[in-house]
Amino acid sequence: MQQGRTTISKFLIEQLRGSEDQSDLAALLIDVTAAVKAIASMTAKGALGGFLGSLGTENVQGETQKKLDVLSNDAMIQACEWGGLVAGMASEEMDDPYMLAKEFERGPYLLVFDPLDGSSNIDVNVSVGTIFSVLRHGKIGDPTVADYLRPGVEQVAAGYAIYGPSTMMVLTVGKGTHGFTLDREIGNFILTHPDLQIPADTAEYAINSSNERFWEPPVQRYVAECKAGKTGDRGRDFNTRWIASMVADVHRILMRGGIFMYPKDAKDPSKPGRLRLMYEANPIAFIIEQAGGAASTGRGRILTVQPTSLHQRVPVMLGSRNEIERLERYHREYDSGEDKPFASPLFKDRSLYSDDLRA
Ligand code: AHG
Ligand code: MN
Ligand code: MN
Repeated sequence: MQQGRTTISKFLIEQLRGSEDQSDLAALLIDVTAAVKAIASMTAKGALGGFLGSLGTENVQGETQKKLDVLSNDAMIQACEWGGLVAGMASEEMDDPYMLAKEFERGPYLLVFDPLDGSSNIDVNVSVGTIFSVLRHGKIGDPTVADYLRPGVEQVAAGYAIYGPSTMMVLTVGKGTHGFTLDREIGNFILTHPDLQIPADTAEYAINSSNERFWEPPVQRYVAECKAGKTGDRGRDFNTRWIASMVADVHRILMRGGIFMYPKDAKDPSKPGRLRLMYEANPIAFIIEQAGGAASTGRGRILTVQPTSLHQRVPVMLGSRNEIERLERYHREYDSGEDKPFASPLFKDRSLYSDDLRA
């Protein structure tokens, strides 16, 4: 190893020394890095590995599973079930929580993950990722589904891996957000991005604009103002990016600021958003907040949402703090009736007319 470099194991052992979680949590996160290295190796082989394409099966959300979705899920289970560190695991690709094999000791944590995020990008060689969240089990024995349904504020660790031109892991144990880059020659993650900080202001936003007609008015208002740029209320130009891998969009935001939105939309009224609370929104919200950013549903902090089911969806808006606060204000103004489309300055001043119109 080159002198002066901090490996992920050394970093975690030092960060957790003296804490309640100490070596157990460090050991679990090191097991997660083993799965991430296996997934990095499969994604990097591309067509040569025979891993591309679909399996022809569907997950619990009715999405077609890619071969790599399932292989990545298996890699996480294999790397994390044997060590006596987890009591159970749940993931996007499994309808019900995974029950550990009988021979393995049950540990103090629950591991929840999205084994491959952005998997529609696998076949086109665009960055994908793995997202994970660690909760305390706090009981003896195998967990029930209800044991997993803890709000994001109770996470003891969260992170993601991004399989891009380089493979990186970004994680938090509640003491800042830190980034590590995989040195493939020595097979280890090295601390390269300590204490990431998201700038409070930005001129870059990410949203899938093809859904615009289904968004709620406060999101339409925000995006319309960004698009109006210098000539509109914001008085400056904005830029858009959309990778369709949340991990890749979030990684850009951690590197240079910006916001990411997957709001609630009316396309399928039974779904309050696209992204899943427990293994997408919560871990990413923890990372974003630990880097000085904000993560909201538009109407409240993501991390305080009480989950009611394992695969539940949630609206997501996260990144540079001042822009997320603005989005929350637009939601408040909309909910209180202050920003109805006809609430022009004229009507605002003449409450007689505006009250009539709002009735
Ligand atoms: P997954 O591949 O785990 O199902 O997640 C994909 C998610 C997220 O990563 C991304 O931001 C979003 O879905 C893309 O949605 P669109 O297809 O609407 O662009
Ligand atoms: Mn995902
Ligand atoms: Mn996925």
